[in-house]
Amino acid sequence: MENKEGFIDSKELYSLIDLIGSGNELKMDEWVLLLSNISDDLSEYLFEKARTVKEKYYGNKVYIRGLIEFTNYCKNNCYYCGIRRDNIKADRYRLSDEAILECVDRGHDLGFRTFVLQGGEDLYYDDDHICRLVSSIKESWPDSAVTLSIGEKSYESYKAYYLAGADRYLLRHETAGKEHYKSLHPEEMSYDNRMRCLYDLKEIGYQVGAGFMVGSPDQRREDIARDLIFLKKFEPHMVGIGPFIAHKDTPFKEEKNGSLKETLFLLGIIRLMLPKVLLPSTTALATIAKKGRELGIMAGANVIMPNLSPVKVRKKYLLYDNKLSGGLEGAEGIEILKKSLEAIGSRISADRGDHCSLV
Ligand code: 5AD
Repeated sequence: MENKEGFIDSKELYSLIDLIGSGNELKMDEWVLLLSNISDDLSEYLFEKARTVKEKYYGNKVYIRGLIEFTNYCKNNCYYCGIRRDNIKADRYRLSDEAILECVDRGHDLGFRTFVLQGGEDLYYDDDHICRLVSSIKESWPDSAVTLSIGEKSYESYKAYYLAGADRYLLRHETAGKEHYKSLHPEEMSYDNRMRCLYDLKEIGYQVGAGFMVGSPDQRREDIARDLIFLKKFEPHMVGIGPFIAHKDTPFKEEKNGSLKETLFLLGIIRLMLPKVLLPSTTALATIAKKGRELGIMAGANVIMPNLSPVKVRKKYLLYDNKLSGGLEGAEGIEILKKSLEAIGSRISADRGDHCSLV
């Protein structure tokens, strides 16, 4: 792939993108070559193709999800995360059932038709409790989808939530590199269990979301290649990716943040590789760069997840430093969000926004 002088023939890179676009799987060394040679021109070429496939399946629609961060207690101790168990500086909170249901009602008034209940792994909420919450939301709003994002559970627990009415589940795999997984997580957590969870969720019938952080400590190009190879094989309905951002009260406080360019490039690649995927332009992306959210949409993303949590707890769900939660990231900012999306030729859709293979 390199010529005699060791230069890369850029045609090679463009043809790798064409290969992905025509449904081919790249091999490890091809992924590494591509990821080592991201340029503005190559990115533009990719984004144009990514937008074309997105429009084929979803038009210019952007789906919105109302995110309710209902507890920041967590039994896990992931090295990157601001709400990890050992962070004694985190100001812990739990929302009552009434408060959660109020958020949902407010969100429904604002036009949301998907509610994402996200939390740390908090054993205070047992399975019956989660099932009660899910079925109350579905009873009040049968026109809406409920997404859970509450971590690793048993098959039986996942099944119970599904039977209570949950439609979707988000569980980022975080990294598909086994060694890399160990750099990001303490001994008591396991790559194998994470993967077990994802396959269980799929089998039960959820629309499933996987994903990873871009530029997390110790992440090598090969790890990102593994993430992409895994995503192609697993075919999740949703993929959440965003830049790693250091949090000051974690073991990774000195680590450097993931980059805008790499995150955007990967959004474009994921869109091209999984044309029908539901792909959020994440809060982390909006946090590291002005217009990050819009750039994500232009790179191939088609989902935005504004924050519906009560304003008084938003600053406490601090996964990383400076995490945005107001302005266009707040559900109440939806009118301005609409305008900013219109300016780039997209529009917010009023429907549930299921994966297009299911509607
Ligand atoms: N930077 C970026 N993303 C993070 N997450 C957790 N901590 C950080 C961080 N420091 C992501 C993880 C998790 C999701 C809810 O947030 O990928 O799955």
